[in-house]
Amino acid sequence: MINFSGRTAFVTGGANGIGIGLVRALLAEGCKVAMADIRQDAIDAALKSLDNQMVMGVQVDVSSREGMAAAADTVEERFGPVSLLFNNAGINLFQPIEESSYSDWDWVMGVNLHGPINGVMTFVPRMIAAGQGGYIVNTASMAGWLASGSPGIYNTTKFAVRGMSESLRASLAPHGIGVSILCPGLVKSHIFASDEVRPPELMVGAKPVDTAHVERLAGVHEFGMEPDVIAARVLDAMRENRAYIFSHPEHREEVAELFAEYLADYRDYPEDPGYDQRVGFEAFRRKSYKDARDAAQNAT
Ligand SMILES: NC(=O)c1ccc[n+]([C@@H]2O[C@H](COP(=O)([O-])OP(=O)(O)OC[C@H]3O[C@@H](n4cnc5c(N)ncnc54)[C@H](O)[C@@H]3O)[C@@H](O)[C@H]2O)c1
Repeated sequence: MINFSGRTAFVTGGANGIGIGLVRALLAEGCKVAMADIRQDAIDAALKSLDNQMVMGVQVDVSSREGMAAAADTVEERFGPVSLLFNNAGINLFQPIEESSYSDWDWVMGVNLHGPINGVMTFVPRMIAAGQGGYIVNTASMAGWLASGSPGIYNTTKFAVRGMSESLRASLAPHGIGVSILCPGLVKSHIFASDEVRPPELMVGAKPVDTAHVERLAGVHEFGMEPDVIAARVLDAMRENRAYIFSHPEHREEVAELFAEYLADYRDYPEDPGYDQRVGFEAFRRKSYKDARDAAQNAT
């Protein structure tokens, strides 16, 4: 079981929402915590509210490879090797793909997918070299399962974070590094104001911000789950080394419904040439995948 005390954690998007909930929970477990965020004002406000020597702020844009490497150096110089990584920073954009521009893609993919990729590429080699094992939690979303027309790019990134995390969970197990995928539903957070952190160079082709919509979203997020509740569920799941962290029980039936719909799309096609060999090959692959999942369960 992962032990938290004395470890160094790096939490992206740590100055608001789920991130600051994680920061508070990790500090309570005796971790040294780096709160990594693009908003310096939010970092300053959060540091003031926490008033704790075991937390430091580091301003970084997770979509920047160089920025992430520099942030890692800064944090490790002061707090030692990072062995708990929370790739949590994310932004939202509610619009259909056919109404989106390349800069919309670049912004949302940059933060929500390349952010976690950069976190992994920056820290995994360091974690392996340090040899202390560790843990990575990647924040996907229920939008990594439930897709619809309007959050098209967001859906794309969150499905991808799931795929990356499942693969990493298998490959990092031999290094004693656990990987979980956090899939929250509605959270009481600041995400409705994502437009505030959109870089000017990625504004080309952006639709004007619909302030009425942002206000409606702010209202909806008011009854989102409290970040501290989510963070407690995340740490519980890490102790159990659970692959998926479904913080919001209200989605359970919908996931079951969705899987029933997947299975309903299968058809009893007649056997084509090569079917028997494929079945043999897939049986072998299936067992190796299952073995890898079982081994990952015992990684930490
Ligand atoms: N709010 C929800 O209802 C909800 C639901 C499911 C999943 N999520 C996911 O949870 C994660 C956290 O979001 P939240 O709801 O707490 O939102 P939030 O806006 O309250 O917090 C996200 C933080 O990420 C930071 N950030 C944004 N772009 C960044 C960048 N390029 N580099 C570094 N930091 C950056 C923001 O400044 C902010 O402090 C995101 O990945 C989001 O997609 C949120």
